[in-house]
Amino acid sequence: MRRKVIVGNWKMNKDIHETANLITELRERMKDFRNEVDVVICPPFTSLVIAKALIKDSPIKLGAQNMSQYDEGAYTGEISAKMLTVAGCEYVILGHSERRQYFNETDELINAKIKKALKAGLTPIVCIGETLEEREAGITDKIIITQVKGVLHELTATEVEKLLIAYEPVWAIGTGKNATPDQANQVHKLIRKQVGQMYSWAIAEKLIIQYGGSMNAQNASSLLSQSDIDGGLIGGASLKTVAFMTIIQTGVEAYL
Ligand code: 13P
Repeated sequence: MRRKVIVGNWKMNKDIHETANLITELRERMKDFRNEVDVVICPPFTSLVIAKALIKDSPIKLGAQNMSQYDEGAYTGEISAKMLTVAGCEYVILGHSERRQYFNETDELINAKIKKALKAGLTPIVCIGETLEEREAGITDKIIITQVKGVLHELTATEVEKLLIAYEPVWAIGTGKNATPDQANQVHKLIRKQVGQMYSWAIAEKLIIQYGGSMNAQNASSLLSQSDIDGGLIGGASLKTVAFMTIIQTGVEAYL
């Protein structure tokens, strides 16, 4: 059985003081946590170092929200994979729809970033998902397959075994409108099938596929109990201690 992976994507929220407060509260509530699920937080870059110090000796792991495709050099405003690992990150979110939408990231660029992240020893959380127009036009499956092929282009089986995929329907992000558990599960199955065809069924079966898009304390249980939903990539609800803890707890229950 696949372990659930619950990831908080803080987006552009929380300065270092707010980061410290949120982590302190989370740790307090996670005292009895026995590691039944993987919990990762992805604060903004400026909070990574303090976050790393604050999660010491706790079950919480650290991730970043983006990364450059280059190693180093004259790329003003960018952050490299090595900078993230040295700062204590184990994960990095790549290809989030907000990066695709507002910063013109393409499958090709995301593919290059995935390769860099893997070389540096980071675990990429690779985001894919259709827009509302695409869903309404009935081309969700086609879009998802194209994205899976694009982001995984020329990755070896060994590399694919090291990454996670997050299915985030764009129309469900920050809108309060989540995909129904069945809608999400159908797409997760499609992603798994596609990875199975490109690599092997053994790899596809082990692949962690998270759902993201208005997951909250209320809907987490119905989403996380689906056969092919292996966790959540959570935005808004990860900024609130009680809501995030409830989702983590739901992940634990779904695993037991
Ligand atoms: P919300 O949970 O705020 O909808 O955000 C989802 C998301 O984009 C996580 O990466």
